[in-house]
Amino acid sequence: MNPTPVSPVTVGIVGAGFISDIYLANLTTRFDNVRVVAVADLSVERAEARAAKYGIAAMTVDDLFADLGIELVVNLTVPAAHADVAMRAVAAGKSVYNEKPLTATREQGQALLALARDNGVFVGGAPDTFLGGALQTARKLIDDGAVGRPIAVNAIMYTHGHESWHPDPGFYYQPGAGPMFDMGPYYVTALVSLLGPIVRVVSSTGVGFAERIISSEPKFGETIHVNTPTHIAATLDFANGAIATLTTSFDVYDTVHSRLTIHGAEGSLQLPDPNTFGGTVSLLQPAAFLSRRDPLSVGRTPDDRADPNRVAAPRWEDVPLTHGYTDNSRGIGVADLARAIRDGSPARASGELACHVLDVMHATLESSDQNRHIAIASTVDRPDGMPAS
Ligand SMILES: NC(=O)c1ccc[n+]([C@@H]2O[C@H](COP(=O)([O-])OP(=O)(O)OC[C@H]3O[C@@H](n4cnc5c(N)ncnc54)[C@H](O)[C@@H]3O)[C@@H](O)[C@H]2O)c1
Repeated sequence: MNPTPVSPVTVGIVGAGFISDIYLANLTTRFDNVRVVAVADLSVERAEARAAKYGIAAMTVDDLFADLGIELVVNLTVPAAHADVAMRAVAAGKSVYNEKPLTATREQGQALLALARDNGVFVGGAPDTFLGGALQTARKLIDDGAVGRPIAVNAIMYTHGHESWHPDPGFYYQPGAGPMFDMGPYYVTALVSLLGPIVRVVSSTGVGFAERIISSEPKFGETIHVNTPTHIAATLDFANGAIATLTTSFDVYDTVHSRLTIHGAEGSLQLPDPNTFGGTVSLLQPAAFLSRRDPLSVGRTPDDRADPNRVAAPRWEDVPLTHGYTDNSRGIGVADLARAIRDGSPARASGELACHVLDVMHATLESSDQNRHIAIASTVDRPDGMPAS
């Protein structure tokens, strides 16, 4: 007998801005278990434009919340509106998936999870790049022992800010944004998925430039007064004993170093920018290299073999990706949440994970302000890895 087919989860999108395009493109074509039916925005024109492009209904925000046919709200509004929109969705009996950061404050995040528990609905949160092929390949390598016991992490997010391209970049330099809350979610979420929860944080923070001049249109020449740290150098202690140094900055231009490297007792793993789904994963395995050292061993090049005096050294080797979703797959976390809604098992990009990440990010600012380590009160289980197909 065939199993009873599972009906797709009906989705309403709130927030029809820049990022909604890729969500709609993916959620209307790539995932059978979701069916997007409507989009709403404070701007009626934006909602109508997206609705027309993707063949769905444009609604007011109130009507979308009142629609009993919508089970899951995907909240793509600006960060300041995340908590309010999500609370309204959950109060209306719907599950919700928020773009990052989950909410502005820890208290809002905890209140959202509590209300969802009371109402028997699910909460999920971006980013979902950690479900992509590169970070899932890395996750399997770590779990299979390719680098041995994790010891250290270097994580670097450097950019000179967003005022050269974003049409309205002022918010990036106000409390609740800055490089940690804007880009930190990709790094901290990836690290918790790879290594587990974080228990303690210490940091130094600074403001490299008190003012920024906008060089994008339409606000070219306007001055932004910076009101939040734009350079944050943090050290994160993991429950498993690993120690990460994470630097997020809008004050420097670039780095020649890998954006994310995991070092273990037996080797190291270089990962691509965790704000992407694919990219190159490279593995260095000195311990395995030394144990099999002979004149023709792996890691020696033809030059090594031609020159008996040349000392063979272990080399970084690119690893073929074992997992799918290597292109821009934003929305895969929504599809995984829909799976969880139907089968009752935990979602991978869960509200609990997003809440832990939010807790850690706040600690990276508080530590420097308070001149002390901050213990992380929240914890979370590592989300399950994705199947290798
Ligand atoms: N822009 C990016 O590259 C990018 C990438 C990844 C994630 N994100 C995240 O996606 C979210 C949206 O970013 P964006 O770039 O699309 O912003 P945006 O400003 O282009 O769009 C946000 C939309 O939300 C609407 N909105 C605001 N408050 C609302 C409310 N209370 N109810 C209904 N609609 C409301 C606005 O009218 C606007 O159309 C943010 O959380 C951001 O962190 C953005």
